Amino acid sequence: MRTPLVAANWKMHKTIPEARAYLERLLELVGREAGVEVVVIPSFTSLPAAAELLAGTPLGLGAQDAYPEPAGAYTGEVSVTQVADVGVHYVLCGHSERRNLFGEGDELVGRKVQAVVAHGITPILCVGETLDERRAGGVWKVVERQLERGVAGLNDNPRGLVIAYEPVWAIGTGVAAQPSDAQAMAARIRVWLRKRFGARGDRVRIQYGGSVNTDNAGGFLSLPDVDGALVGGASLDPDTFWAIARSAHR
Ligand code: PGA
Repeated sequence: MRTPLVAANWKMHKTIPEARAYLERLLELVGREAGVEVVVIPSFTSLPAAAELLAGTPLGLGAQDAYPEPAGAYTGEVSVTQVADVGVHYVLCGHSERRNLFGEGDELVGRKVQAVVAHGITPILCVGETLDERRAGGVWKVVERQLERGVAGLNDNPRGLVIAYEPVWAIGTGVAAQPSDAQAMAARIRVWLRKRFGARGDRVRIQYGGSVNTDNAGGFLSLPDVDGALVGGASLDPDTFWAIARSAHR
């Protein structure tokens, strides 16, 4: 039995006071409810304040990215060691905005996943095809390559690994995938995970992401192979995000 994981990817939004106000409200809403894991993924600047506010609460904390080298001359980067120091539980690896806007390749994404696991933190490996790749009919080829290279540095134990399937054309567009397509892809990813990790592949959670909102969340979160959602735009308001997270209760 996999506990659904619903995560709020704030992207480049919110100042520290805004982050605090959001988290205080979300904590009011969440109470002590279990059965679904709820994670907030703020900007680096808000991570220390968020870690303080969320300590001892049921809410998890994630970073949007982290660089695999432990320290060094990498101006502008924040290392996995540094986000581990803040106390994050999750790190997004290879979000499509990192891949497409900042030129992150599969090899770097794989090193990030490996470094995150080495620090005892859970990587959320993001995979998904662009519209051009979809039109060219190569969806599985793209996703399979991203999976293979993304976990290339792991042995046969995936530990807490999470996969987020996010078709790039569905991100921030208001056009979500059809639940049946999300299920078909998640099932295919599940088969791949079993081949790669054996029975342990069944423990890996697979999220859907891309224009998830309060209206469609229930449809995605009830799919047999979809174990949660990675929510961007609709996660920026705590009440809306909590409404989405609640639809993951099984
Ligand atoms: P969206 O973003 O919900 O705004 O489409 C999802 C994501 O990028 O993780």
